[in-house]
Amino acid sequence: MALSDFGLSSVVGIAASAGLFLSLVSLYTISRLAYNNWFHPLAHIPGPISASASGLTYNLHMRNGTIIPWLMDLHKKYGDVVRVNPTEVSFISGDTAWQDIYGFRTGKNKTGAYLKDRSWFAKPVVKTYSLIVADEPTHSRMRRNLSHAFSDKALRDQEGIVQGFVDLLVHRLHEQVQNNVYAIDIMRWYNYTTFDIITDLTFGEPLYCLRDKDYHPWVNMVFASAKAISLLVAKRNFPIFAYYDRIKGIFCPKPDAIKQRKKFFELATQKVTNRLERETMRPDFMSYVVKSQAIEAKALTREEIDTNAVLFLVAGSETTATMLSGTTYLLLKNPAVYAKLVHEIRSRFNTQSDITFDEVNKLDYMIACLQEGLRYYPPAPTGFPRVVPQGGDTISGHYIPEGTSVYVSQYAASHSESNWTDPEAYAPERWLGDKRYKDDKRTAINPFSFGPRNCLGKNLAYAEMRLILAKVLFNFDLELVDKSADWIKQQKVFVLWEKGSLMVKLNPVQR
Ligand code: HEM
Repeated sequence: MALSDFGLSSVVGIAASAGLFLSLVSLYTISRLAYNNWFHPLAHIPGPISASASGLTYNLHMRNGTIIPWLMDLHKKYGDVVRVNPTEVSFISGDTAWQDIYGFRTGKNKTGAYLKDRSWFAKPVVKTYSLIVADEPTHSRMRRNLSHAFSDKALRDQEGIVQGFVDLLVHRLHEQVQNNVYAIDIMRWYNYTTFDIITDLTFGEPLYCLRDKDYHPWVNMVFASAKAISLLVAKRNFPIFAYYDRIKGIFCPKPDAIKQRKKFFELATQKVTNRLERETMRPDFMSYVVKSQAIEAKALTREEIDTNAVLFLVAGSETTATMLSGTTYLLLKNPAVYAKLVHEIRSRFNTQSDITFDEVNKLDYMIACLQEGLRYYPPAPTGFPRVVPQGGDTISGHYIPEGTSVYVSQYAASHSESNWTDPEAYAPERWLGDKRYKDDKRTAINPFSFGPRNCLGKNLAYAEMRLILAKVLFNFDLELVDKSADWIKQQKVFVLWEKGSLMVKLNPVQR
């Protein structure tokens, strides 16, 4: 009896149709995997077959927070250039990759611009992209406006505001000791401070975390939004993850993230309105934005102001606190470095009020400790993806076809033996001309990115981290509560580090 003798709705017919369907899906999948691995224009780039043929491995690591050790292993095995996903290439070469991907495109480098890979960013609530995602002409107009708020002059004028919060942090820590609380989670306290500073500079009013000794709901919102990016990228690449999360959500429902984000934007917009309606001479970001509005070529729409205010809050808060937490941990794990640093700080200043932006810029050892902290534990440890322009281009000596997503993987570049002598050692001396580290490729890391789209808040971040660390160590001796745990290795990465508590004992310095 032939198969055609059975109706399609019969058991045999259904089984045959399902079999045919599965065979076609299998055939398609196999030919797709084979194409990706052997015939794709990126087939010449080294990488494991599990990553070149399918994006599943990469996306599982993104979802599980294990992307960093995976990338490190791949670069160790395959070298400076690795295909980590069928359409994505990671680089760690200090000499070339930063300039090739992120540099200004002039002279011999004048090719089309590498645009931001927008698949990494959530759609904006107000339908207007902020500076960090904007297309090139919009970016350059916005940046010309916003850069005044981050100039050297602005930073000098903003010192009073920043100092106020850092002094409040120190005061609060003394209060903890007076109340017999000797062990604190210093990571939280750094976050209280950096969130208060950035919101005060943006909205003219802090989140009052230092006052309330607690996170404002927005802080958790910022943490959650960073984590959401990793999950979002994985869902876009593999819709099956979206279905999985939807089914999981039926059994363990979570608050509606989209609604929360919308609400957050509405509140931020209201705060911007309150700030703009206030006539004030305080030198916060908005005062500079308002001044630039008079020049048409720099003017921002109201939605652009709102969306950039939210960007400042997200980009300028947790990053600096992460940096401070990481460096504090590394100092406490390296007692000789810690001793040298506290000697530098305490022998330089007599009183806390001597510690100013200008004075902390002269603390060479502390600056090296922070620089080494940025290398060892970069706050943005993955790559900042860009799309190769039309016609393709050569990156680190490899031809990369147009449309490929490319980046320098910051943590892998920071910990590669091809760039550093003894990369797992926390050694501030490598930034102070020590001969042991003469072969280090210092250009391999750019924790604030590189080129026309580098971090706008870099100078503010440096000023904050130097002032906070100097004032805390001027006032307190710190000691890790759990000396054996590896605080960094325990962390997962969802675009940013998912940090655990960093418990330290506080001992006020006796003078
Ligand atoms: C240690 C602290 C910080 C680190 C490590 C850091 C890192 C970065 C990185 C890597 C980028 C570029 C991302 C890319 O190329 O796609 C960036 C952009 C940016 N950052 Fe920071 N940042 C820090 C602190 C701050 C602060 C305090 C602010 C103040 C508001 C800030 C505001 C911005 C803005 C506005 C951009 C977008 C610049 C543009 O696209 O033109 N950042 N940051």
